[in-house]
Amino acid sequence: MKREIHIEADADALCRAAANELVRAANAAVQAKGTCTVALSGGSTPRRLYSLLVDEATLQAAVPWGQTQIFWGDERHVPPDHVDSNYRMAHEAMLSKASIASTKVHRIKSELPDARDAASEYEQTLRECFHLASGQLPRFDVVLLGMGPDGHMASLFPGTAALQERRRLVVANWVEKGASYRITLTLPVLNNAACVIFLVSGEEKAQTLRAVLEKEAPCAPLPAQLIRPTQGRLVWMVDRAAARLLSTDRR
Ligand code: 6PG
Repeated sequence: MKREIHIEADADALCRAAANELVRAANAAVQAKGTCTVALSGGSTPRRLYSLLVDEATLQAAVPWGQTQIFWGDERHVPPDHVDSNYRMAHEAMLSKASIASTKVHRIKSELPDARDAASEYEQTLRECFHLASGQLPRFDVVLLGMGPDGHMASLFPGTAALQERRRLVVANWVEKGASYRITLTLPVLNNAACVIFLVSGEEKAQTLRAVLEKEAPCAPLPAQLIRPTQGRLVWMVDRAAARLLSTDRR
């Protein structure tokens, strides 16, 4: 696994750099095989990135929308029009303005009453979209991830059951913080991606980012330390505030 760390001046510069990285990776995938699959992250940091991809003419023109399929890395167990919905955030910021067919946008059916059904349905969607044989993993061309101050990414929170899942592609994960279920891709899927791009911004992430990037984790690694694409790139895109505590040779 090749790990890269890019430090940008601030959140806006970070999202611009990430947008360019995403466009590069998407076009490389289309060049190589005619299609591109992207798993979006939720949270607040990527909203600016998503807006840039449709609001900036050069970026909008550079995204291979016609050959791209959109997925999510995780979703909260809420309806798609709920204020906490990752789908709603991406739809408002980007997809409602992008020239992409709705058949190419694969949201997690998080309105289903049982989160486990939503997870099974989404796993079936992955099997169909990636034409998976039994036991095969989907290989996303790009997976976007954020990182929480506790080191979680997607909906893989410290100490939660989903971190241990090695067979299923998608699970419903009970997250004590927030006392709710979330639906999430599992580690085997995330680590099978061709390119994982972490987006980390803000002072409140600095301590965790140093721990993830610079501390060997003797016992319980932070979830974000478990992202090691087996045959892919790991790109950390961070701003100066989040990188504040990194050793100087990384800054
Ligand atoms: C979610 C995301 C989650 C997010 C981190 C960081 O559903 O919220 O999947 O993993 O990426 O919590 O969020 P921020 O970018 O808002 O700090």
